[in-house]
Amino acid sequence: MRVFRRRLMEWFDEKARDLPWRRTRDPYRIWVSEIMLQQTRVAAVIPYYERFLERFPDVRALASAEESEVLALWSGLGYYSRARNLLRAARMIHESERFPRSYEELRALPGVGVYTAAAIASIAFGEPRAVVDGNVRRVLSRLSCGAEDPAGLAQRLLDRQRPGDFNQALMELGAEVCQPRSPRCDVCPVERYCQARKQGRQSEFPERRPRPPRQRLRLTLALVSRRGGILFVQENGFWNLPQLGGLTGFDKGREVGRFRHSILNRDYEVTVVEGKLGEAPAGSRNLRPQEWARLPLATLARKALAIWLRKAGPETH
Ligand code: ADE
Repeated sequence: MRVFRRRLMEWFDEKARDLPWRRTRDPYRIWVSEIMLQQTRVAAVIPYYERFLERFPDVRALASAEESEVLALWSGLGYYSRARNLLRAARMIHESERFPRSYEELRALPGVGVYTAAAIASIAFGEPRAVVDGNVRRVLSRLSCGAEDPAGLAQRLLDRQRPGDFNQALMELGAEVCQPRSPRCDVCPVERYCQARKQGRQSEFPERRPRPPRQRLRLTLALVSRRGGILFVQENGFWNLPQLGGLTGFDKGREVGRFRHSILNRDYEVTVVEGKLGEAPAGSRNLRPQEWARLPLATLARKALAIWLRKAGPETH
């Protein structure tokens, strides 16, 4: 166990990617990184993380933000309840005038589950809590060839002197070496301890779960331009183009274009059509380009506008 730990940590010290949240000990910054990294790949997170922290460098700045601005900065990252919870939590922390300093306190924040609380507590405060995410589960399942529960094994292996680095080392090994398909055992620092490797059974882990069937759906978005603006409707805090089905009195014009968009297990084929509308629906707004830039736009609206601006261009009135 000691040698396993030492080899893993030496490998991490030498090979760890230089990620922006690894250059700080600020619990706020580590918290933001772990929320962004939920369900999201490192490469996708980096630019969002940097922009977010430039605008909101501390809890105080975030706590006093408008939800619409937080969502605008989050736009494109997905799973927007994360952004809403982050803001709610920042307001709670700001109000209490004290950043949570332990796993238990972190768990009380909206959006912080067992995994995220363990990650923040170990990385920011050195609390000896093992993190078991999908990557770590796969690494440890292979290590014991399915013989041990990954959570128990993680807690036993944990380096209690450097729990945050140990957790990140296992995540890093899962992301960079012990990958789901074709693991790179030839460069693995702990290959000699791996039972799956010994038995040639690496491909049996992760165990495959049947995926939910994908749904194919169509929808049509209406692009109604008037006096240099475009008609938008609000959906869950984001501004979107209205769907054709929800409009009355829409006088359909030319088709602007089509694009595909996938959310979870749904694949949409989206058609964008221009047209005129007698009366704008309740709650809608005619927004000019300078206004879109400051508001959280739905990804569907973003894609539709990009096609429109590229292909058709705004008509001059
Ligand atoms: N995924 C979740 N947390 C991470 C971290 N701290 N570093 C790299 N990948 C992660």
